[in-house]
Amino acid sequence: MFQLNDIPDLKGKTVMVTGATAGLGKASCTEFARKGAHVIVLGRNAEKCAQVIEEIKQKTGSELVEFYLQDLDDLESVRAFCKSFLARANTRLDILMLNAGFTRGSYALTKQGIESSFGVNYVAHFYMVYLLESLILACKTRIVSVSAGMINPERVNDTLEEMNNKATFDGLVAYGRSKAANIIFAKAMARKYADAGVISSVIEPGAVATDGPANLDIKVDLSFHGVVAFWCRYALPYFGASISDGIRPQMFAAVSPHVVNGVAYSHNCKKWNKANNFSTIELEEQLWTHTLELLAEKHMLKQ
Ligand SMILES: NC(=O)c1ccc[n+]([C@@H]2O[C@H](COP(=O)([O-])OP(=O)(O)OC[C@H]3O[C@@H](n4cnc5c(N)ncnc54)[C@H](OP(=O)(O)O)[C@@H]3O)[C@@H](O)[C@H]2O)c1
Repeated sequence: MFQLNDIPDLKGKTVMVTGATAGLGKASCTEFARKGAHVIVLGRNAEKCAQVIEEIKQKTGSELVEFYLQDLDDLESVRAFCKSFLARANTRLDILMLNAGFTRGSYALTKQGIESSFGVNYVAHFYMVYLLESLILACKTRIVSVSAGMINPERVNDTLEEMNNKATFDGLVAYGRSKAANIIFAKAMARKYADAGVISSVIEPGAVATDGPANLDIKVDLSFHGVVAFWCRYALPYFGASISDGIRPQMFAAVSPHVVNGVAYSHNCKKWNKANNFSTIELEEQLWTHTLELLAEKHMLKQ
């Protein structure tokens, strides 16, 4: 299996990671910095971002680490970040890791009124790529999407009204919908951007002992959801993979010459059959169109 020692020298490469202030994203940024990449940490909290870049600089000795603020809960914030990044002199982007994500039991909407798991984990990442597309194509950016084993592909084309229905809301279904959307989107990018030389793949990290699952706000009881909550909160910190092992699939997807465009990889860096089998071009096109329509409805399309 791919090891962190297999990461090649990354001097001269610019790498951007969403959800870089904790867990898998922060650890990935640390490894990128260790190998000499120019690392762009993306986060929503300035104080936390500043602490994280200091920590990475100290651990790796690299000064090539900076942060930008971007709250994926707010598409205006994504737009402001992308605009400022594109305006940088000689800007480039060699690796884009779409890593941010959360599992939540409670109901919430994003600033633009989209069910928050779908809005943050998927729509905001789609929006970033949509806005950075010219740079991605020019730089042949390698794109890594971070999904999860718990996926609900059959719910991906739910309407906004269905997703936003508080009465029928189920946090795990919403999470699984957003994570299935990550897979379909990664495969759609692979097909649409292949001629430009972009490589897009998607991974699932397995069960990793980060704070993300441990913070799942679902009551522990004997229901399926309660048992999942118990596992995430009490078992994962002991039985989950360490964070340094947990980042291997996303680091593999980011740098390995063996990665195949459009393929989904499991936590062992082997092909992830479940994800590779359900996605179709029809599903990819439906989701792409649906997402652009959603952005249009929210007045977020490019001017
Ligand atoms: N850990 C696992 O076992 C596991 C399993 C399957 C999939 N995954 C996936 O792996 C990815 C990383 O998860 P993790 O375990 O490392 O979780 P984590 O430790 O909770 O880190 C999540 C990151 O996402 C950021 N984030 C959340 N909401 C955001 C928003 N609105 N705007 C910007 N950033 C936001 C967080 O920022 P703050 O620091 O500001 O909160 C944090 O940096 C996620 O996509 C998750 O679904 C993890």
